[in-house]
Parts: sequence; structure tokens; C-alpha cells
Amino acid sequence: MIISSAQDFREAARRRIPRFLFDYADGGAYAEETLRRNVGDLAGIALRQRVLRDVASIDLKTSLFGREIALPVALAPVGISGMYARRGEVQAARAAKAAGIPACLSTVSICPIADVAKAADPFWFQLYVLRDRGFMKELIATAKAAGAEALVFTVDMPVPGARYRDAHSGMSGPNAPLRRVIQAMLKPRWAWDVGLWGRPHTLGNLGPVLGDKNGLDDYMGWIGANFDPSIQWKDLDWIRAEWNGPLVLKGILDPEDAREAAAIGADGIVVSNHGGRQLDGVPSSARALPTIADAVGDRLTVLADGGVRNGLDVVRMLALGAKGVLLGRAWLWALAAGGEAGVAKLLELIAKEMTVAMTLTGVNRIDAIDRSILAEDMK
Ligand code: GLV
Repeated sequence: MIISSAQDFREAARRRIPRFLFDYADGGAYAEETLRRNVGDLAGIALRQRVLRDVASIDLKTSLFGREIALPVALAPVGISGMYARRGEVQAARAAKAAGIPACLSTVSICPIADVAKAADPFWFQLYVLRDRGFMKELIATAKAAGAEALVFTVDMPVPGARYRDAHSGMSGPNAPLRRVIQAMLKPRWAWDVGLWGRPHTLGNLGPVLGDKNGLDDYMGWIGANFDPSIQWKDLDWIRAEWNGPLVLKGILDPEDAREAAAIGADGIVVSNHGGRQLDGVPSSARALPTIADAVGDRLTVLADGGVRNGLDVVRMLALGAKGVLLGRAWLWALAAGGEAGVAKLLELIAKEMTVAMTLTGVNRIDAIDRSILAEDMK
């Protein structure tokens, strides 16, 4: 099939991988209202078309947390992405490195920290709030030893959101393992690549806590049992004590929380509702972003995710106040559809789409993108 956009990758992924995996990534919480808002609100941001401004040379480079990167884009952490293609996290990290952008590894990855750290540059590590603080410390130490350049601490998942699609797809729910085997048999290319030969199938970083019980059902059970709703702002002090590099809080959607993040000395935040996978009904990232950027943009680095499907969306997020954008579903679809080459192609498309958007809004540098490129009624 012809691939010319993230939507094409989504379709190709749907054809290639079992339904439980496709729906796990594609779906959101409850009625998926926030998921739709993320995409719809961002796509609805109108830019100001400008002409005859000599934009013959466009520079997409920027820097984040002291590192120059080729695009203001990073691969968002996505759990179990190593089930979407063989050693998926390593493949995606290689593509990100070749494109000159950071790859952020999820705590609940298939490939372990050490393997992905070797493939990525820059390498970021995402950490959840877990009940077992000792284990969190171990993960931070491992990430640090592996050369992680930023710790992305997810703060919007003290409990997992209710994802109805997972119960229907076989990711969870009655007879889930049997349903997954049947679905896998219907997807022979995936079954060959990942199901049969794509080992490991276990969560690479959770061995010390999961032991032998490290399959998909254990993963869902572990998430439910180990996420910790008692976390509070003052707990960030001990994380700070363990981690002296850039600390980024992912999952901020409110200006008051953004100010707290700045007050405790976070280096960055990700304006995010977890891709619409947590509390359905909260505003889209695009809607929340401008107020948050106004509140703290001069005190820490504001990143954003949610609904970004192409380079034009990246430019929109930057115009709304982000300094960088995390891609989630888009890279996962590309990985599922085409492995490392798929992610490389997606990043190429994003760079090209950004170039066109910048050319036609009359800006040739990333730091020149601001609200002045929004259409009048969008400011
Ligand atoms: C985990 O973070 C998920 O969104 O499934």
C-alpha cells in the first residue's frame, strides 16, 4: 500500500497487527471524547498564510535540555511497543537517532533500558509513580548509568483510565489470552515477526518485580496494582535527590499545576492528557497549552503531546506555545507497519510537512514560530 501520511501507517498497522494491539494503541478512555478533541482541536487551529518573505532556507533545528536536535520532536514513551514489531523499542530508537531526535523509553517497555540506550541518542527515560519506591530508585539509577539525558516522570497516571476498547479487544477481559492467540493467527506476518521470533515478550525493566509472571495479563494486573494515587508534590523532592539531570513532568493540563512544577524546580513539563487515555472529558492539549505556556513558559521548557499526526500539527503546537512536541501513536503505527524504516519514513514526512508549513507561514527558524503565525481568530 502507498504510504504518504501517518494515517496510511495507521491503516497499514491495522492490517498487520492483531486487534488487541491495534486497539490498545488506537483507543482512549471511556467514550474517547478527549482523544477526539486532541485531534480535532489541533487540526482546527488555523495558521496565517504569508507570502513573498524569502523563506528559501528553512532550519528545523532546535535545542532541548542542552542538546541540539534536528527537529523539535521526540518519540513519546509508549508501553509494550516491542510487541508491535520485533525489538520495537530498539528499532524506533535507531530511527530517532538517525533523524537526530530524542527517543524516550517507557518504564513498561519490552526491550530493557540498556539495549535502547545504546540505540538512541539522545536517550530519555520515562518513569511512572510506583508504590515500590525502592524499585523506582533502581530504575532511575539504571537509566542514569545507561546515559539517560532526561527523566520524564509521568504524573497523570496515579490510576489507569478505563479503556473500554481493551475489554472488547482481548487486551483484557474474559478469555483474553485465548482471544489474543486467535487474533495472532489471523495476522501471520506479525505472528512470524513478533509472535514467534520476536522475543523477548516480557517487560524488560520489570523482571526484578514481576519475576516469571511477566506476560501481558501480568502487565495489566501490575499496572492496576502498582500505580500510586498517594503521590504528591513533595514526593518529587526525593526524585530530585536521585536524579540531578533534566526532570520533565509529563501530564500537566492545568496552569496551577504548571506553576507548582516550576516552583519545585522541574526543568520541563509535557502538556498532556496521556493521549486521551486517562480522564475522558478533560480539554485537549491544544486547548490547554496556550494558558500554560503563558504561565510558565519563561521558567521551564514546555513540551506538548496529544493529537499530533503530521508536521503541520507540530508547527501548530509550537505556535500555541510548545518548544517541542512528543509523537505517540504516529510512531507506533509506523513501527507496526514498517519497523525502523517505517519510523524513519514517518520522521522524514514530518520534517517535510514542517518545512511546507513554515514556508507558507513565512518563518524560517523554529524560534520564530509563535502566536504571530496563528490566524487572527485563533490568537
Ligand atoms: C500507559 O501509559 C498507557 O497509556 O497505556
